[in-house]
Amino acid sequence: MRLPRQIAWLLLLAAFGVSVGAGQLPATPNGISDPKLDGKVEALLHKMTRAEKVGQLVQYSAGQATGPGTGRTDYNDMIEKGQVGALFNVTDPRQVNAYQHLAVEKSRLHIPIIFGLDVIHGFRTEFPVPLALASTWDPAAVERAARVAAQEASANGIRWTFSPMVDIARDARWGRMIEGAGEDPFLGSVMAAAYVHGYQGERLDAPDSIAACVKHFVGYGASEGGRDYNSTEISEHTLREFYLPPFRAAIDAGSATIMSAFNSLNGIPASANPFTLKQILRQEWGFRGIADSDWTSVAELIPHGIARDGSDAARKAFLAGVDMDMVSSLYHDHLEHIVESGQASDAELDEAVRHVLRVKFALGLFERPYVDEAGAEKAQRRPESLVLAREAAERSFVLLQNQNGPSGKPLLPISTEVKNIALLGPLGDDPAMMLGSWGGMGRGDEVSPLRQALVSRLGPGHVFQARGVGITDGSDEEMAAAVSGAMNSDLILLTLGENASDMTGEAGSRSDLGLPGKQQALLEAAVRTGKPVVLVLFSGRPLTLPWAFDHVPAVLAAWFPGSEAGPALVRTLFGDVNPSGKLVVSWPRRVGQEPLYYDALDTGRPAGKADLSHPPLNSDEKYLSRYIDVPNSPQFFFGYGGSYATFSYGPAQSSAKQLSASELNKGLRNGTAPVFTVEADISNTGPVAGEEVAQVYLRLEGTSTAQPVRALKGFQRISLAPGARQRVRFSLAPEAFAIWNDRNSFAVEPAKATLWIGPDSAHGSEVPLEIVP
Ligand code: NOJ
Repeated sequence: MRLPRQIAWLLLLAAFGVSVGAGQLPATPNGISDPKLDGKVEALLHKMTRAEKVGQLVQYSAGQATGPGTGRTDYNDMIEKGQVGALFNVTDPRQVNAYQHLAVEKSRLHIPIIFGLDVIHGFRTEFPVPLALASTWDPAAVERAARVAAQEASANGIRWTFSPMVDIARDARWGRMIEGAGEDPFLGSVMAAAYVHGYQGERLDAPDSIAACVKHFVGYGASEGGRDYNSTEISEHTLREFYLPPFRAAIDAGSATIMSAFNSLNGIPASANPFTLKQILRQEWGFRGIADSDWTSVAELIPHGIARDGSDAARKAFLAGVDMDMVSSLYHDHLEHIVESGQASDAELDEAVRHVLRVKFALGLFERPYVDEAGAEKAQRRPESLVLAREAAERSFVLLQNQNGPSGKPLLPISTEVKNIALLGPLGDDPAMMLGSWGGMGRGDEVSPLRQALVSRLGPGHVFQARGVGITDGSDEEMAAAVSGAMNSDLILLTLGENASDMTGEAGSRSDLGLPGKQQALLEAAVRTGKPVVLVLFSGRPLTLPWAFDHVPAVLAAWFPGSEAGPALVRTLFGDVNPSGKLVVSWPRRVGQEPLYYDALDTGRPAGKADLSHPPLNSDEKYLSRYIDVPNSPQFFFGYGGSYATFSYGPAQSSAKQLSASELNKGLRNGTAPVFTVEADISNTGPVAGEEVAQVYLRLEGTSTAQPVRALKGFQRISLAPGARQRVRFSLAPEAFAIWNDRNSFAVEPAKATLWIGPDSAHGSEVPLEIVP
């Protein structure tokens, strides 16, 4: 049996007792860069007319719309004329084959169409939403999830997914935080590579592989005020240090395609930005695949204000390096004339078409354009895929709080003495909602919600279930009935949170991060019963719930867990499995703290010990970088997650007290890395077995550009029996110490360094290190 590459790689690292550390991602053979493709591409290009070339750069949505209207219906005719290069949102394999038949049999050059879809966290087997998948800190699980998604989607004829979204998200108001891996560039890079490896498999031309599309290039996550589609201002330094690394990791892992973003970046819309699309992507990174626009982002150059009309928009996007026009139809309408009139050259047109043809050849579409319609259903929801979905969900839950219940022990796991449970709240029995945003082809009727799993566990007469309130609606009568029904139970399991489709994901920005509707009232009424309350939160972002954290003993962040939501939750709540997810975003106390992220720069006036909510006492405390009404610190730190076990960290030790910047720089250039390790013992001092994600962080001081107060450089998930101890060792490559300096180049500088090995971004055992010239 051949192991998935990511898993093999992790096993190899584990064998050496090391873990995921900076600079250790393996290079993947890049299907689209195979020089053998070039001859085929050139031969075909040679036969094409200008119009046919433009056709390859045109893409439409021909099914369920995932953006504002497409405006066309005449695809059959266009395909026969060679005017369409790609379609998406076509999910029925018969329809895929019908369109493909027109392209392959009827068009002059028989060039197959590439079919895409937003396969974001599964196709029919839905895995937890990407923010939750990242919270597993388990790239092997993410790779396996992406592999299953590829197998299922390709069985329906989809060979291209618009995933992974790797936008760094530092502001929980932004609804699309749910679609990515959170706020950290290192974790984001590891996850980006895992998705690409999973989708594209060992070989891109295998029938069950699909092309990845890393998105949204770039800076979209920094939308001002967290408002979707809004402008961004990101300096080149910050762009390179924080926003670009996950894109680079995806490209290095072989991502065949990339999508340009909606936002303007420093005044230039990302879909017309030659600095990012040409200089960085093509010249610096050597990318040879497709740069796709986002949905109508070419046409949106007009309202952005940099194009006067459709022709102007097409010209600007094309010249900036957008190869393919998703939905706008402006390349179809204008590009041929733009080239004919000399506003763009034939060489530029050829280059864009090369990118598209290369991906089509790399996918093996010319050899195997059709999908086996009879085989589609067999690939879906295989038992082993559902097991993976359940396990991923179990690892994604983050135990935020677990105080003592009536027995004097932590309320979770639920004690065997609890025989009757009241399941209250709007999300305890809403299967479709468990799929989260971008639920792919996932079906509500195939999801096992919490109620069903709870009834199987306790028996039908032992679960009282009532909504109490809806997510945004509800009446006092309904709430009163639910609360009085709960009086006969031993424990209240309260399910609260967001509406996955309206409040999270694209166009799901919120200015308030509290519980929507009347849910807060239900929460308070449930607590007033005096029954022990466990709160299970379903959301696509952290929610600001200070009252809940003060009054509810146990809180589990469940995100949106996917197809196997119910079983995964019940197994976790009853302690069959121990929660081990960790936050990949800082959890705010109040919305006014946003944007909030752990790897911030320090200020000239750090709040230090004065970061408290009491009013300033003297001038030493007043004139500091702090709020007067809320601490700077989050409610829960990036990297934090509780467990039914307790872990203690021994002192950290490093293999050297000094490193030489010039040696490290040599290593950066020629790959000869001096081996530097930092290690610590971790013990399970609790009563049950558990998994812990140990993290290593670095701070550099004295460098030419200010560096974050801490930056994640590696992590390792370990499993410990009660009383067991294990040494974790992190091996850090030169990249871990390199920074984007004051000349915008990537190099190691002499610095005072501090390393921590710890359970989250705010704790851990510390070891100093000197980086000498
Ligand atoms: C717009 C979204 O921004 C993008 O992420 C998605 O892939 C496309 N629509 C296609 O549905």
